[in-house]
Amino acid sequence: NDKSVSDEGYKLEVSPNKIELRFSSAKGAFYGVQTILQLLPAEVYGSSPVPGKDYVIPAVKIEDYPRFSYRGMHLDVGRHFFEIDAIKKLLDLMAIHKLNTFHWHLTEDQGWRIEIKKYPLLTQVGSIRAETMLGHYSDQKWDGKPYGGFYTQEQIKEVVNYAKLKHIEVIPEIEMPGHALAALAAYPEYGCKGANYKVGTKWGVEDDVFCPYDKTFEFLENVISEVIDLFPSKYIHIGGDECPKTTWKESEFCQNLMKKEKLKDEHELQSFFIKRMDKFISSKGKKIIGWDEILEGGISPNATIMSWRGIEGGISAVKEGHNAIMTPTSFCYLDYYQSDPSSEPLAIGGYLPLENVYSYEPIPAGLSPQEAKHILGTQANLWTEYISTEEKMQYMMFPRATAIAEIAWSSKEKDFNGFSTRLKKQFERMDNLGVNYAKSYYDVSSSMSLNPNQQIKIALKSLDKNAKIRYTLDGSIPTANSLLYSDSKGIFNNQDFTLNAAVYNNDGKQMGKMYSKYFSISKSTGKKYTIVDKPDKYNGGETYGLTNGVLGNVKNSATWVGLDGKDFNVVLDLGQKIKFERCSMAFMRASAMWVMLPRAIEIFVSNDNKAFKSVKKLDLNPKDLPEYVSQQYSIDLGVQNARYVKVIVKNYGDLPKSHQGFGHKAWLFLDEISIK
Ligand code: ACM
Repeated sequence: NDKSVSDEGYKLEVSPNKIELRFSSAKGAFYGVQTILQLLPAEVYGSSPVPGKDYVIPAVKIEDYPRFSYRGMHLDVGRHFFEIDAIKKLLDLMAIHKLNTFHWHLTEDQGWRIEIKKYPLLTQVGSIRAETMLGHYSDQKWDGKPYGGFYTQEQIKEVVNYAKLKHIEVIPEIEMPGHALAALAAYPEYGCKGANYKVGTKWGVEDDVFCPYDKTFEFLENVISEVIDLFPSKYIHIGGDECPKTTWKESEFCQNLMKKEKLKDEHELQSFFIKRMDKFISSKGKKIIGWDEILEGGISPNATIMSWRGIEGGISAVKEGHNAIMTPTSFCYLDYYQSDPSSEPLAIGGYLPLENVYSYEPIPAGLSPQEAKHILGTQANLWTEYISTEEKMQYMMFPRATAIAEIAWSSKEKDFNGFSTRLKKQFERMDNLGVNYAKSYYDVSSSMSLNPNQQIKIALKSLDKNAKIRYTLDGSIPTANSLLYSDSKGIFNNQDFTLNAAVYNNDGKQMGKMYSKYFSISKSTGKKYTIVDKPDKYNGGETYGLTNGVLGNVKNSATWVGLDGKDFNVVLDLGQKIKFERCSMAFMRASAMWVMLPRAIEIFVSNDNKAFKSVKKLDLNPKDLPEYVSQQYSIDLGVQNARYVKVIVKNYGDLPKSHQGFGHKAWLFLDEISIK
């Protein structure tokens, strides 16, 4: 025991005669032991250590402590239920990653998962839904089978105690005022309509939410009191995200309450709701965490913000002197695809490969040192609409949670190659532990450019820098004897083609999944362009996102270039004056993802990149098409002879009143600008 060592830190010295571990707390000792295990061969993990065998540990001198005090892993057990054995295994995995907080999302529209003695119907009714969506939301199909599951209070205690042994704090989340449909199905008197609620059977956001009656607060306070007795954590998470104001707007009670309390809108009513719960929870000696929506209408005095819709919520919170935990979707949402969605098991959407997760810096730029101190840490979030088994849960979490763990513990400096080396060791450990982690680290991805001879060049990449990539161009399945890819040559082709590729190790074993992509080649493929508002989503980061030959697929967000609320204003440089007569492009409509069709397209040509002549204008009337469609346009331009083509696409603009995102602008998703 060494008082000079920080709370979670340790000092480890391994010399020929001894292993010396110094620490000032049990946590520090625990993390020191985790490091000792890491220094041993991977076979010490799981059931493979050989009794009586001598293991060798390298001589080291380590002084180690975490960068952030909050290092979290979240799991939604509302959409799908996971048995406590799966939860304990997850806690084991968190511990070897030195993650110290398990955020257990216990209540949802589609299922209430924690026994509350005073309100038995919460589990008797609220834990069971009539059926579950089959396939993707866009398929609108259901399986017709009742689904349920919940944890008894004894099981909750068992998990909390188990976590304690691993120095993990379990933070329960009880959602309010939204995501409450399962609770309302059990106790309809706490909703504004008062009757006819059913446990949710579809994914998304439900309009029916808790009504701010006194009796609702009494109910929630009773629930929270039992929760507080079960969880020794400092925090209680009260949700607060995605609470539509529809029923509050229609409720005479709510409107009168707003007048009485001088609340100017329903956001202030939500704030009133959270503040009232904050007061109660604070009186019990606990603090609340809420998703960043709880900032709207005024932040509650003792709240910590969990910033998920980007980082702005976290920034606002710390500027007001509150604490924040950073979990922005674009780096921390492990329910998003981690590799080419067309080769991955079904997921909610999005695209978040390991490399992007690893690149995350939790402290937003521009904060003062004082403000930065209020960033407690970061967390990986796993929502489980599309994750119904433990195998898939592990597959989606790891190794991306390994990257989050390193970001949360290690210093700010990043080095993906170094991380790769450590990761391959971690793969061996996880193999021994029987973890179904994703192997997409070995998958192939591609990018496109033009070589100096104006030929299209496709580059292939694996995150593993030592990978051997082999490929075919004739549609056949690659083998260990197929063409060997080299960066210096790249791949050329001037007609539409299918590229198949995979990574092989030195023994000729295929490591990741097969990559397969159809390339649609036109006169604009691989050509450079300038764009006024930079896209920030999906292929938007890619230099050739709009000319990479990859057409849009509604099941694959990664094939689109997305703009948030802005217009596309693109100038393509065809390299020289050429003849063409057609421009094709496609847009995605996915209203549930706030992605709407454009209002207008205008195409211009120029030879000097200064004077542009309009050659076609289409005023579109974005109709109510079905969800998840790709709307194609093949636009006749007449015969043109020009070097520059300007394309302006008008965003849908403000989302309509009936839309859940009302008050925000729409996303605009364009796949490709093909000049023919
Ligand atoms: C969230 O993803 N709704 C917090």
